[in-house]
Amino acid sequence: MTNHEIKISFQEYNSLKELDTNDQELCAEATKAMKNSHSPYSKFRVGAALRLKSGKIIVGSNQENVAYPSGLCAERVALFYWGANYPDDPIGSMAVTAHTDEFVLQKPVTSCGSCLQVLAEYEKKQGDAVKVILFCKDGPVWVANGIESFLPFLFFEDRLK
Ligand code: THU
Repeated sequence: MTNHEIKISFQEYNSLKELDTNDQELCAEATKAMKNSHSPYSKFRVGAALRLKSGKIIVGSNQENVAYPSGLCAERVALFYWGANYPDDPIGSMAVTAHTDEFVLQKPVTSCGSCLQVLAEYEKKQGDAVKVILFCKDGPVWVANGIESFLPFLFFEDRLK
């Protein structure tokens, strides 16, 4: 028997002010995107913003539905919008934030497994990792590079060969 250990790493910043101006701008767009969140059921607003290699920024917000499973997370709204409209302009970074009036978020929200799986698909498609920036209003900012920071045991296509 052999024990293996996998380490994942991410950077923590105390506030958005410590990020470079491009990343601060992307976070501001993710914050703005929360305005269009449709979240009457959870009352939990999430905004996501993608910066493409061309510099273009596209956004998404969570869209809920009375038939609960029909709703979609902010990340996948933004990522699928990218796939449908800008597939040839690679994603450089993604900022994600959340807000609720019900309580104070102390830590950034980390994306669900389905959103990570979609991110993995597009990283593979574009052949490059995406910088992920997770933050909330008055909490720390977490920055990680690429899907393997989140899912080191992701199912990769090469396992099928
Ligand atoms: N949600 C997101 O949009 N992204 C996440 O990273 C976590 C969860 C949404 C789904 C649902 O509309 C609400 O937040 C509560 O789970």
